[in-house]
Amino acid sequence: MWISTSRWLPGLYGLISIMGGLAAADTTPDFTSVRTKFVKDYSGTGPSEPAEEKYFHESSFHYHYDGRYAEQELPEEDTLPHLSQLIRTYLSTMADLGAETWIMHGTLLAWWWNQKIFPWDNDIDVQVSEPTIHFLDEYYNMTEHHFDIPGVEGGRTYLLEINPNYVFRSIEDTMNVIDARWIDTSSGLFIDITAVRPDDDRRKKGDTGALMCKDKHHFDENDIFPLRNSRFEDFPVKIPFEYVKLLEEEYGPKALTATDFQDHHFNEETLVWDPATLERKRSLRRRGAVDLPVRTTPLKYKMR
Ligand SMILES: *[C@@H]1O[C@H](CO)[C@@H](O)[C@H](O)[C@H]1NC(C)=O
Repeated sequence: MWISTSRWLPGLYGLISIMGGLAAADTTPDFTSVRTKFVKDYSGTGPSEPAEEKYFHESSFHYHYDGRYAEQELPEEDTLPHLSQLIRTYLSTMADLGAETWIMHGTLLAWWWNQKIFPWDNDIDVQVSEPTIHFLDEYYNMTEHHFDIPGVEGGRTYLLEINPNYVFRSIEDTMNVIDARWIDTSSGLFIDITAVRPDDDRRKKGDTGALMCKDKHHFDENDIFPLRNSRFEDFPVKIPFEYVKLLEEEYGPKALTATDFQDHHFNEETLVWDPATLERKRSLRRRGAVDLPVRTTPLKYKMR
């Protein structure tokens, strides 16, 4: 059922939170500083043929788990807390490195509603710019990052793994559209990282702001930059400039207004997606306090 009266509420909430984020941040987005990141030109670099094999392997039991670190899915009530720490540790690491990243796809849609991961989701999508993926390859491939996490004995270790095929820049490499992953080694859950690159073919035809990802998504520089500051899972995050346009293109306008979705109903007072059945509601209730992760592994190299 589509409820049109609710149309403006979540959007307005998102906007207020962005403006709050903007006011609170030390730096507001700045076109020139952002654009210089695309100055290094990787066009014409990399192999001329796509790889013959897929680099990242998902587990046989679930395509959102890395089988090297898990034999089964987490119980439902443990999944969200793991995902919250997964995105927070990733965002915290990229911020510490000075590496530009932002949320996209389903994660951006979840942000639009209440700045929280959808309770039924188990994947997280982020993007980075091309110089960032080169930096991460050069200094941080296969690095492990330990975090203390309140309430989690021994904390958790996360692995940053870069797909060697990221240097092949075209969509012909259909087996390697994910450029990197941030993997929770305690559960096998991971974040897919895709690099957004200048789209050489479209640029040659005069489309000067054309961007693409190997997963066949196309963007314009003005859709993404300047990035906006907001919060996600109670953590600072960056989101693409034209988030409404991008979300409507990808999911249709109704995805931004329909309050019944995936057996959940969006409660406009609490701003929570409540499960349709009470039993599940109890098991999925979030704890009140926010348990922020604290990095214990030092970072040697920074982008800026
Ligand atoms: C990252 O390291 C792994 C393991 O050594 C390797 O298989 C992979 O090719 C490396 N990625 C890049 C981008 O070099």
